[in-house]
Amino acid sequence: MSISTIASGRARRASVRAAVTVFTATAVAAGLIGPPVTAAEPTPHPGSTRSGDSLFPTAGNGGYQAVHYGVTLDYFPKRNRLEARTRVVARAAGPLSSFSLDLEGLRVRKVAVDGRNASYRRHGHELVITPARAVSGRFTTTVVYDGHPRRHKDPDGTYEGWITTPDGATALNEPVGSMTWFPNNNTPRDKARYTFRVTAPSRLAVAANGVLAKRARHAGRTTWTWHERVPMASYLAMVSIGDYDVFRSSLRTVSGKRLPVWSFVERQLPSQGKARRLLPKIVRWGERRFGPYPMDSAGIVVHKLGVGYALETQDRPVFDGDVKTPDLVHELAHQWYGDSVTPRDWGDIWLNEGFATYAEWMWDGAHGGTSPEKTFRRAYQKYGAKSSFWKPAPAALTDPADLFGTSSYLRGAMTLQALRDRVGDKAFSRILHDWARLMRNGVVTTTDFVLLSERVSGKNLDELFQDWLYTAKRPVGY
Ligand code: ARG
Ligand code: ZN
Repeated sequence: MSISTIASGRARRASVRAAVTVFTATAVAAGLIGPPVTAAEPTPHPGSTRSGDSLFPTAGNGGYQAVHYGVTLDYFPKRNRLEARTRVVARAAGPLSSFSLDLEGLRVRKVAVDGRNASYRRHGHELVITPARAVSGRFTTTVVYDGHPRRHKDPDGTYEGWITTPDGATALNEPVGSMTWFPNNNTPRDKARYTFRVTAPSRLAVAANGVLAKRARHAGRTTWTWHERVPMASYLAMVSIGDYDVFRSSLRTVSGKRLPVWSFVERQLPSQGKARRLLPKIVRWGERRFGPYPMDSAGIVVHKLGVGYALETQDRPVFDGDVKTPDLVHELAHQWYGDSVTPRDWGDIWLNEGFATYAEWMWDGAHGGTSPEKTFRRAYQKYGAKSSFWKPAPAALTDPADLFGTSSYLRGAMTLQALRDRVGDKAFSRILHDWARLMRNGVVTTTDFVLLSERVSGKNLDELFQDWLYTAKRPVGY
């Protein structure tokens, strides 16, 4: 059980004022405030097989937090065969007699905990592991597995997970697809660092998150080692194996830092010169609007995948075919809002999609297009009080099929414009910067954002956020 479970599950629906009380109560429950607890040797207990997420409650697990994933993949594209090993370093909250990871499909060959064979059972996507002796503190789990990884169908009918292509495969994981290729604590509230070691035929290239540490060739196959040192949610992990043109460069940030840029463009496609030229400009534009670029590497991956969406995979977003500028702005804005500042609960997805959509509006307005005010006004006028556009409210989703619906994107962005109108440009800009700076690498809730907005602006924003985020009606008077 973590602070997040209560803060996101309950406070989301509660009024903003009440949320402060909830936070204090959870701080007491978490032992942060109050009398010292007497030290008795706690009895080992099984870790939960659930995360408690409001929309995907069975994805993710309890009782521990992941620290580092070492994902080693040997991939044979012609047969879509994967021979793999994932090493998870984690920290147990208390002594655990058993714990679980999420893994869908594939065949588990062996599980070891701290170097000793462990027993395991599989129930659906739960891989429940019973170590030879209870774990506490830091422990290491190694899972050896193989098979034919498969894509995962989402509640809205779209696909994610292991997506095969004529030349290779690309792993896209929002919201829960990561479990189709490596065992993990599949919830955004548990971030970790990663190492990917991927071996594929040498004629193909392998993209992943982070910085390339090594490329080693042996007998017609090449191992690519990528390190992601910035804490990352598993839904943002990415590996892409394909027939790529690889473009290597660097970009200079506003503060003068040099960042490595690695871009991968499917050889069959146009080389995406415009997008690759725009990338450093958008990053620097984002730095002026939101604050320092939060990652230590950049780039894009462009491949026809047939999924129908782009994804903000950390450092290196993936595009399903030719890159359009608004999409590039959107996925790069997610590096601040979503990737660095990550919602604890999928029910808070508007904090990702509303912000990234608003960034598109800002870019458009700043580059000869429509201003955000006008984009807001058009949408507000277009959807009358009877329109289904106003259902559900962005921070009150109950159906996982609505995760990537217009409420999260459009109404989420409209919420930010309504906030801007209310607090003024200066306070709004401070809110955007402070949100990225104070919550960097963190996991957050809508309540955190509401409280920050009130603190920065010095205004009571209860009604505004009630109207825009929690009420399934067209807000009146905006
Ligand atoms: N977050 C992505 C974006 O930038 C969309 C992901 C859609 N995922 C899905 N399984 N349909 O908007
Ligand atoms: Zn998005």
